[in-house]
Amino acid sequence: MTIDLAVIGGSGLYNFPGLENTSRHSVDTPFGTASGDVVIGDFAGRRVAFLARHGESHTVPPHRVNYRANLWALHALGARRVIGVNAVGGIRGDMGPRVIVVPDQVIDYTHGRYTSFCDVEGAEVRHIDFSEPYTEALRRELLDAAAAAGVAAIDGGCYGATQGPRLETRAEIARMKRDGCDLVGMTGMPEAVLARELELEYACLALVANFAAGCGDEAEISIEEIFAHLAAATAEVPRILGVLLKR
Ligand code: HPA
Repeated sequence: MTIDLAVIGGSGLYNFPGLENTSRHSVDTPFGTASGDVVIGDFAGRRVAFLARHGESHTVPPHRVNYRANLWALHALGARRVIGVNAVGGIRGDMGPRVIVVPDQVIDYTHGRYTSFCDVEGAEVRHIDFSEPYTEALRRELLDAAAAAGVAAIDGGCYGATQGPRLETRAEIARMKRDGCDLVGMTGMPEAVLARELELEYACLALVANFAAGCGDEAEISIEEIFAHLAAATAEVPRILGVLLKR
C-alpha cells in the first residue's frame, strides 16, 4: 500500500477532517496494540494515514501511549513520512497560545517509557545518530506549506518533553527555560526517536495551547482555555497539510 503521509494527531485532533474513502486498520505489532485503528483515506488527492495518539476518545494519557506500537503500525502499513501533531505549552515569549511552531530540537525529560525498538531480549543494540531529531526536509516542507497556505508558523525551537499527565510547576518550567527549551509537551518523545529508528521521515507540528507555568500572566492554567486555543490552532492543520500534499 502506498501512503503519501501519515499524521499522528494529538490532543484536540482525534480524526482527520476531510479524509475521504476511508478504511480502518487494526495492526498487530510485536510491541502490543497501537492507540487505535489507523484510518487510511484520500486527502488533497493523496493517500493519508491517520492515528489518534491518545485514542479517538482521548483515553490514553501521554505516559501510557504505546509509542512503539503506533510507529510500528504506521510503518507496517507502508508509511514512510510522518507528521506528529502535538499540543504544547509555550515557554518562549513569542510562542503564546494559538502559535504554530515547527521545532528543530528536543530535550527529553520523560522516564519509564520504552524509548527504543532494541529494548527487547536478544535484539541488536543500535546507537543511532539523533543530533538532528527531526527530518529537516520534512520540516522545510511543513514551513513552506504553512507559508503558502497563509498560516504563520515559527521555524525552529527546542521541544522539552515532560512526563505528564500533570502540567509542570513554575520551577520546572524555569529550569527548562534555563536548559534552552522553548516549548513543553508530553508526547514529543520517544515518538521522534522511534521514528528515527524505523528510518521514517518525521517532523513535529507543535500547536501552542497555553503559556507554560509562570510564562504568561495567569496564576493558573485553565484546561478549558487550553482546549479552546487548541481547537483554533488545530483548524489550520488540514490547510497546511493540504498544501504540503498538493506540492
Ligand atoms: N505543559 C505540557 N504539555 C502541554 C502544555 C503544558 O503547559 N500545554 C499543552 N500541552
